[in-house]
Amino acid sequence: MTPLPESIARSWQMAALSRELKSQPLARTVADTSLVLFRDEAGGAVALIDRCPHRNYPLSEGRLVDGTVQCPYHGWRFGADGACVDVPGCTLDGDERQRLAARPVEAREIHGAVLVRLQPGGPELPDLGPWGAADHDHFWWSQGVWRGRALDALENVLDPFHTNFIHDGIIRRSNRRIPVRLSVETGEDWIESIIEQPRPDMGWMSRMLEPPRDRSRTRLYSPTLVQARWEGPRGLTLCVTVFFTPVTPTTLAPFACFTTPKGRGPGWLKERAIRFFLEKVVAQDRHALARQLDNIERFGAPRFLQGPGDLLGARVAQLYQGQKIEPAREGPFDFEL
Ligand code: FES
Ligand SMILES: [Fe+2]
Repeated sequence: MTPLPESIARSWQMAALSRELKSQPLARTVADTSLVLFRDEAGGAVALIDRCPHRNYPLSEGRLVDGTVQCPYHGWRFGADGACVDVPGCTLDGDERQRLAARPVEAREIHGAVLVRLQPGGPELPDLGPWGAADHDHFWWSQGVWRGRALDALENVLDPFHTNFIHDGIIRRSNRRIPVRLSVETGEDWIESIIEQPRPDMGWMSRMLEPPRDRSRTRLYSPTLVQARWEGPRGLTLCVTVFFTPVTPTTLAPFACFTTPKGRGPGWLKERAIRFFLEKVVAQDRHALARQLDNIERFGAPRFLQGPGDLLGARVAQLYQGQKIEPAREGPFDFEL
């Protein structure tokens, strides 16, 4: 399988939920790189390459001592900047601390997400609007590690036409379609698909759960961050921000944060309802991505055609690879979904 593009290592990728950083070191793989995550004494999120520089033992199998991670093999300890702060049984002078250091990785924490950037110099996070805003309810839903290519997951989430089939009856229906108007907007490093429709989707989830809808917008920010918004006559009804973290070339870890305006019931109830209704949808997409990859592997390589509804064409792949695209506005085009 083709290796992950460098854009992944150069951008902020979500490695864990804040609440996963507890009293033990946490092992995570991001962009094919094994990391150990923990909190330093001040509570800041730390990421180091998960390899003890001494004899290559996984640091994540060690323990935390006063905000440092201790390797289980000989007990060396490493702080937030990777510097070695203790070699049990020996005296460490100042210069030795850097020579014996573990490799640190840039880490930051925002709105309950622990993000890492393996290589410096990539883009900063875009403005993600209501994500994390105090006047909204938010909850995280992390999805574990899926078998599938991150690029295919991005195409999936931006592609409405699969919802009539894979999610037949839940989101839309394969045998009862409604007319929609589809437009595309792009900036240099993002692409957005906008769907305007006169009626809610025909699936039972939309009909039971959703307030009136005017349009939905799904935007991909290069390389792997997606934000989808549903808007009704009174403004935003739901916003989902998803970090599609490539774990290896054939696995990914989706982390989704659901944001709703306060009101319309308590936050915990909305969380329960959304999880209940979406559980099946998520499982269907997860299954589809795995089957798609099985077959790509069986045939040796992907070979994709762009159909008449694939308005985004090759641009999702270009953004995934960190390439700039031409700013544009296209549509609206008439389809039935
Ligand atoms: S291998 Fe980690 S301290 Fe020796
Ligand atoms: Fe889907």
